[in-house]
Amino acid sequence: MRTEQPKMIYLEDYQAPDYLIDETHLTFELYEDHTLVHAQLVMRRNPACAADSTGGLPPLVLDGQQLELLNLALDDRELTVADYQLDDSHLTLQPTQERFVIDSSVRIHPESNTALEGLYKSSGMFCTQCEAEGFRKITYYLDRPDVMSKFTTTVSAEQHSYPVLLSNGNPIATGSEGDGRHWATWEDPFMKPAYLFALVAGDLWCVEDRFTTMSAREVTLRIYVEPENIDKVQHAMDSLKKSMTWDEQVYGREYDLDIFMIVAVNDFNMGAMENKGLNIFNSSCVLARAETATDAAHQRVEAVVAHEYFHNWSGNRVTCRDWFQLSLKEGFTVFRDSEFSADMNSRTVKRIEDVAYLRTHQFAEDAGPMAHPVRPDAYMEISNFYTLTIYEKGSEVLRMIHTLLGAETFRKGSDLYFERHDGQAVTCDDFVQAMEDASGVDLSQFKRWYTQAGTPRLEVSESYDAAANTYRLQFRQSCPATPGQAEKLPFVIPVELALLDAEGRELPLQLVGEDKPVGRSRVLQVTQAEQAFTFLNLEAKPLPSLLRGFSAPVKLSFPYSRDQLMFLMQHDSDGFNRWEAGQQLSVQVLQELIGQHQRGEALVLDQRLVSALRSVLENASLDQAMVAEMLSLPGEGYLTEISEVADVDAIHAAREFARSALATALFEPLWARYQVNRELSRSTAYVAESSHFARRSLQNIALSYLMLTGKAEVLAACLEQFEVCDNMTERLAALAVLVNSPFTSERDAALQSFAEHFKDNALVMDQWFSVQAASTLPGGLVRVQALMQHPAFTMKNPNKVRALIGAFAGQNLINFHAADGSGYRFLADQVISLNASNPQIASRQLGPLTRWRKYDASRQALMKAELERILVSGELSSDVFEVVSKSLA
Ligand code: ARG
Ligand code: ZN
Repeated sequence: MRTEQPKMIYLEDYQAPDYLIDETHLTFELYEDHTLVHAQLVMRRNPACAADSTGGLPPLVLDGQQLELLNLALDDRELTVADYQLDDSHLTLQPTQERFVIDSSVRIHPESNTALEGLYKSSGMFCTQCEAEGFRKITYYLDRPDVMSKFTTTVSAEQHSYPVLLSNGNPIATGSEGDGRHWATWEDPFMKPAYLFALVAGDLWCVEDRFTTMSAREVTLRIYVEPENIDKVQHAMDSLKKSMTWDEQVYGREYDLDIFMIVAVNDFNMGAMENKGLNIFNSSCVLARAETATDAAHQRVEAVVAHEYFHNWSGNRVTCRDWFQLSLKEGFTVFRDSEFSADMNSRTVKRIEDVAYLRTHQFAEDAGPMAHPVRPDAYMEISNFYTLTIYEKGSEVLRMIHTLLGAETFRKGSDLYFERHDGQAVTCDDFVQAMEDASGVDLSQFKRWYTQAGTPRLEVSESYDAAANTYRLQFRQSCPATPGQAEKLPFVIPVELALLDAEGRELPLQLVGEDKPVGRSRVLQVTQAEQAFTFLNLEAKPLPSLLRGFSAPVKLSFPYSRDQLMFLMQHDSDGFNRWEAGQQLSVQVLQELIGQHQRGEALVLDQRLVSALRSVLENASLDQAMVAEMLSLPGEGYLTEISEVADVDAIHAAREFARSALATALFEPLWARYQVNRELSRSTAYVAESSHFARRSLQNIALSYLMLTGKAEVLAACLEQFEVCDNMTERLAALAVLVNSPFTSERDAALQSFAEHFKDNALVMDQWFSVQAASTLPGGLVRVQALMQHPAFTMKNPNKVRALIGAFAGQNLINFHAADGSGYRFLADQVISLNASNPQIASRQLGPLTRWRKYDASRQALMKAELERILVSGELSSDVFEVVSKSLA
């Protein structure tokens, strides 16, 4: 908790460390009511720092928070209080030699650590989370990523409760102490920053496997979980082996230790953490089996296992110089895991999911008070910068480099980057430099993607000259102001496009100045504020297919008519753009309905949307997952994001009206496809594989439409699916539609039997909380408040907070934005209470309130009043203070 206003930290103030830590020797004595940490740091003056003019040594300033210092020695000399200065976040002392050894002992209290940062206890086990600045809550240290050290760690604990003792690297010795305690020593041969340190002690079981690397090294793989979950780790293990193979094949990266471990913990602030050789995961990102985890959960496990594994190179072997460079590892690693998932499943569907997520959530962040560049230049609390911008937009930036350079040259660039910087802590500039050096391409203007915040707009217009057979596309780019950045310079925007003829065939693309066509789908670079491209030899006016595959994270607009969009939905050879045309058509139709609602008119659905979706449904050759994606109307969150002023009620009413009208009009084909797929689900055992995911996703979206018709046979089918299935995907989908249905007795019975059946499975109960929190039926807040009293709910577990409070504020827009402000007041109360126990989680729940500028005057006033109430509610963490104060600025 802060005692004074937190300070801004600036990239331009970066200075190399005065001292380095060559070796770090740690001993942990774990007890039930405290833990003792002994640290021996073998240190020296950083040769890269010039000695000061007097030739003296600078003071050594170690980071440390919430530590009780018991002993301190410098080169075996006990220091007394006169020898050092201590405040609530630093220990300062004066070295007298270039090389020296610091020994310290501190007492800490993991048993009462509710912030889940540093060393803490979760379900009876000890575990750590050190990124970004948690290590300073374990011992006095230079807790910054450019100080890399070789770690040896000894853990001692009571043997019966903590039979498993783990840390980074390889196990080198174990023993028992005769008093019921035992110990283990681990040695990590690789230099690493403190944020990659990890320790685990608990009563865990593991599944073990092996992997032979491309140079024939044998690696032991272990996934540790609580004993009752040992039947839910096979999918994660399979995902790990696929990830290891993929990184060898696609990036030439091999694993480097003899053992790789994953540990699942129940209380975790984020998804997972890439600690060297000892990844620690939120159990929601490890555990998956048919009966308890949905298809989406299976895919998330696969993606997160891959993400953390890939960090071994993009993050660990080459790490960040400072936290402003966070996207160096996160953007790159998200790009790597998204390509992995695309290769393991359907590439187009993966792209659709990622883009829908980016446009709904990252675009909103980029347009709000917390907007920041992919490489920020200032922050108060680094935990607030694990954002969609750093991760998802950062990944889009890497994808654009990949698009501009081509896969082969990109690989040369990544090879050069890993080779040049192995064992170093580097910057985003170093990464781009490697890409430039390997390709010969000048990326200096491109680098504005790293430094300028905000989502660029790209307006495109066309003109056709029938006499000259030329077609001109005129591009105009701009980027709205963001906090601290009023004016923006033009970006390099790669626009992949094709021109289609009246049959939907791609035409040869020849630009003015070219002597022959260059392909039929190609990437143009828009680099100026206004820029035109003229294509030759076009005998009729073509229809452009623009920004194929979403080749840049921009808001593109082109004046397509609804008929043109319907044509693209059917004929565009780019699968992503077929979906995108459907989304644009839906947006146009929904915006028309929103207008009708606002004017108090009767709502009338444009029948063209009905016929477009009918032909999608009747197209048996389309990938079923694509059919499901195309049937999904843009969400309320996305409709909010693209509104000037979001009319919560009109958006909800319009979208629900469209869904019901579509359900009625398309009942027959929806019912036919539902029944075929449901029959297959009934007769085939569950497989976590993409054609099965596709089949179930179409089945379940069909069911969600069908239930809107209120027909008895649909209700019967829904109840049958809920009761008779071998997997959570079908069961939860049926439960979710029942929860949103008017069939109250069936709904209550289903909720009750589900809870009875799964009451001992915390992750399944999270789903049970979530479907109810997201139910848009009236009375949402009252239901959520009642659920907070449920015995399975606790504010201490971040997954529970996200499942109930996060889902309510983030997904249940109609209830959260209740006109009386009750939703806002509720969320502010939860933030105030979480601020004291878990600042990171408190701060993350604030997201929906920070978007207050999007709403009408009365809601704006209510939302701001709650932010102001939080601001004066007492001692605020730096996490909450930063978000609230920036939101009100
Ligand atoms: N590096 C982790 C990942 O992306 C995220 C951990 C960050 N944790 C935190 N508490 N800020 O895989
Ligand atoms: Zn990561």
